[in-house]
Amino acid sequence: MCGIFGYVTNKEEALGPILISAAERLTYRGYDSVGAATLNNGKIDLRKDVGKVDSVAAKYNIAEMRGQRGITQLRWATFGEPSQINSQPHLDSDGDLVGAHNGNVVNNVELRQEFMAEGMTVRSQNDGETCVHAVERYINRGYEFIDAIRLAYGDLQGDYAFVIGRANDDKLYAFKKGSGMVVGLGEGFTCLSSDLPSILPLTRNVIRPQDGEIVTLWADRVEIRSVKDGKLIERQPELVTETMDAVQKGGFAHFMLKEIHEQPQVARELLHLLDGSPEVEHVIEKMKSADHLYLIGCGTSYHAASVGSVFFAQLAGRAAIPVLAPQFIAQYAPAVGHDDVGIFVSQSGETKDVLNALEAAEKRSMSCFGLANVVGSTLTKATSFCLPLCCGYEISVPATKTFTNQVVTFLYLAYRLAGKDTSELLRIPELMEQTIEMVGPQIEAIAKDINKWNDMYCLGYGATYPIALEGALKLKEITYAHCEGMLSTEFKHGPLSAVSKGFPIVFVAGPNDVPLIISGINEVKVRGARTITIAEEDARLRSNGDDLVVIPRSDPQISALLGVLPLQLLSYHMSVMRGFDPDFPRNLSKTLTVD
Ligand code: M6R
Repeated sequence: MCGIFGYVTNKEEALGPILISAAERLTYRGYDSVGAATLNNGKIDLRKDVGKVDSVAAKYNIAEMRGQRGITQLRWATFGEPSQINSQPHLDSDGDLVGAHNGNVVNNVELRQEFMAEGMTVRSQNDGETCVHAVERYINRGYEFIDAIRLAYGDLQGDYAFVIGRANDDKLYAFKKGSGMVVGLGEGFTCLSSDLPSILPLTRNVIRPQDGEIVTLWADRVEIRSVKDGKLIERQPELVTETMDAVQKGGFAHFMLKEIHEQPQVARELLHLLDGSPEVEHVIEKMKSADHLYLIGCGTSYHAASVGSVFFAQLAGRAAIPVLAPQFIAQYAPAVGHDDVGIFVSQSGETKDVLNALEAAEKRSMSCFGLANVVGSTLTKATSFCLPLCCGYEISVPATKTFTNQVVTFLYLAYRLAGKDTSELLRIPELMEQTIEMVGPQIEAIAKDINKWNDMYCLGYGATYPIALEGALKLKEITYAHCEGMLSTEFKHGPLSAVSKGFPIVFVAGPNDVPLIISGINEVKVRGARTITIAEEDARLRSNGDDLVVIPRSDPQISALLGVLPLQLLSYHMSVMRGFDPDFPRNLSKTLTVD
């Protein structure tokens, strides 16, 4: 979400077309507004607005913009609604500085108040403007530019990348914390961007700045200094040789695999954003006072809603009804009213089944909130407030990172409902990283072993039951095999008859449910099944089943979330081993706008 691009040359030239092309290459990250600024001979030209790149560029004639330095930014609204004033780049109080960021500054609200108290002109709610004032503050206090940036870096909390320039200068400055940033060195120019694909058509000579470093860009060179002591850091440029397609996939073979590996980072960004969002409070209050609470979605989004409903009950004693959107219309819509609350969950925000359910709920005056990934989608506009998922574009048809961020959102809401300290959740991204690393080779080997089977089951209990449903959906979606997700205790009520020698059954066991899961394992093992259990290390599970896929120790809720990662990887590897393209499975579409 959001993207920045900066360009420095040695003389005034037509930068508009360069900025527009760079902005277009950033669009895949998702955005709702566009801006461009050029700097030349003490003047800053700033043009920006809500809308698509082509329409904003045409409306403000961005193509005609000239300068010696240029910045463009695509914004995906988080702090502050999508509006012209909240669009980026932003000026400082006097219009001498201009800057833009991507990511989230989580102490935005506090810093803005401090800046206003210090007499600065704060024009928007946006945290990109906060980054500009954070530098301005120390310039006002008489610091040199680099030192002002070093001090600003210490004040800005969150994950972001930021570029700033001043009118009377010939350079741009950039730094980052948590988010990505790439600097390019070309013939007669330098540039920087949130990601590699947007600068690759300009140059393949790149430097990757690290957190805690400040980059200064001149037309013919770049300099990196440490935030800590201001000292110069030596770094040689690297030559990027991959194709554009490989670069867009971030070096992974498929978008699905890239998106699986992006999960820790998007979860980190989401958790910071939720902590800084004043609107979340409103949703929590409404949930607390709701008569009935419904969590409504389809496919993967419904599974996330189902995990959420277990979390709400387990952690906050709050009953919530997860329901497939079309069934909501038939089963609940006739009975809901003004005192009920619905959270409509959708990655795309365009699923017709979900929008139909929303319409039915609104007819009955139910309070409706959204949880969506695609900003600007119908769901984000049609609900009074829509929580963002902050995943950036999810390109592969099988949902992965949007599922885990939906689950993280529900876990965060459950913590808030329960009055629990949400800072405990900040360990989730690291646990996700550990999980991916721990299970990788083992899952690939299991995928190879069971790949001949075209029929299997995935079983869970409590919070891992919907995780099992999600794993089964993923397997069906991209391996074209049949995999049924089920409550583990239900298996003996019928499906047990399907078990034959070697029949693969995956169990996902929460740390509190081990004895129950062991009963299930034994029932199928004595009938010849091959069991694969995803769980925390446990001697009982190790001695009872076949494969134990160990995930890191956490707690029952986080453990359920982690349990989906091996299932995503299992389905990915099985799909690839079968010769299918997991990103674009046959017959399916990423966005289902039909009944
Ligand atoms: O965009 P949505 O979340 O509303 O989409 C709902 C389902 O179509 C979607 O989750 C689908 O099940 C996924 N492709 C599964 O990976």
